[in-house]
Amino acid sequence: MTEIPLFLNEEYAKRGISKYIFWNPAVAPHLCAFGTTGSGKTYGMKLCLAKVSKYELNSQFYIADYKGDLDFTFLQGSDRFFRFMDCEKALNEVYQTLQKRQSGEDKKRNMILLYFDEWASYILSLDRKRAEEEKQKLSTLLMLSRSFNIHVFVSQQRVDSQYFGASRDCFNFVLSLSNLSKEGKDMMFHDYKDMMKSDRKRGTGYILVNGTDFAPIIVPTISNMELVHEYIRDAVNR
Ligand SMILES: Nc1ncnc2c1ncn2[C@@H]1O[C@H](COP(=O)(O)OP(=O)(O)OP(=O)(O)O)[C@@H](O)[C@H]1O
Ligand SMILES: [Mg+2]
Repeated sequence: MTEIPLFLNEEYAKRGISKYIFWNPAVAPHLCAFGTTGSGKTYGMKLCLAKVSKYELNSQFYIADYKGDLDFTFLQGSDRFFRFMDCEKALNEVYQTLQKRQSGEDKKRNMILLYFDEWASYILSLDRKRAEEEKQKLSTLLMLSRSFNIHVFVSQQRVDSQYFGASRDCFNFVLSLSNLSKEGKDMMFHDYKDMMKSDRKRGTGYILVNGTDFAPIIVPTISNMELVHEYIRDAVNR
């Protein structure tokens, strides 16, 4: 079983020891990153995606960039890269892949990863009926996809559960960057909220895995962004 090193444990880093927080897709299938604007969500998620691509050699990514600014221009022209309102196609294609794997039509079990940057803003942009439909689709993915090796990464500013319907608890790898609001801590880190300090800066925060493994983290600095883009591009195109 692949375990992918994503973030550095800050407690250890303070003492000069590089101890990684690992993502185990079979144990904590879906990841959600929260943080205010500029807290380093997209930067951190790019690093995560590059590592997944590097460790999971057959993984295939669908990237939905709702904001549609310059962060993902390096993916321009890739079939599995979607911007702004086209993001609905990313969700739909991954949803259909799940259905094909469920029905037996698709026998492959390579890793499929949907990354949705600014899911909450996407939901807010839709009328009520469409928003419910999209939340329903995401919920189905979150609840049924693990055994089919389909995974969802989401990052967004807002923490409220209204963006996920009933399935928010399915995100079992929860990352907060910079300082969360009191409500945010209450909602996503309830049992650990008193351990969360307010000194978090860009690129630092907390991780909670399966509701029990809590740690302060640092997003490692990317020394070669081109290489990170290369790894992501590989997984979007293969
Ligand atoms: N860990 C880090 N080390 C060094 N620079 C970082 C780090 N995290 C973020 N940055 C830089 O900080 C800026 C903001 O980061 P980023 O765009 O990832 O924030 P964001 O949370 O996605 O913001 P938004 O919600 O507006 O999209 C970027 O220029 C990025 O390169
Ligand atoms: Mg961003």
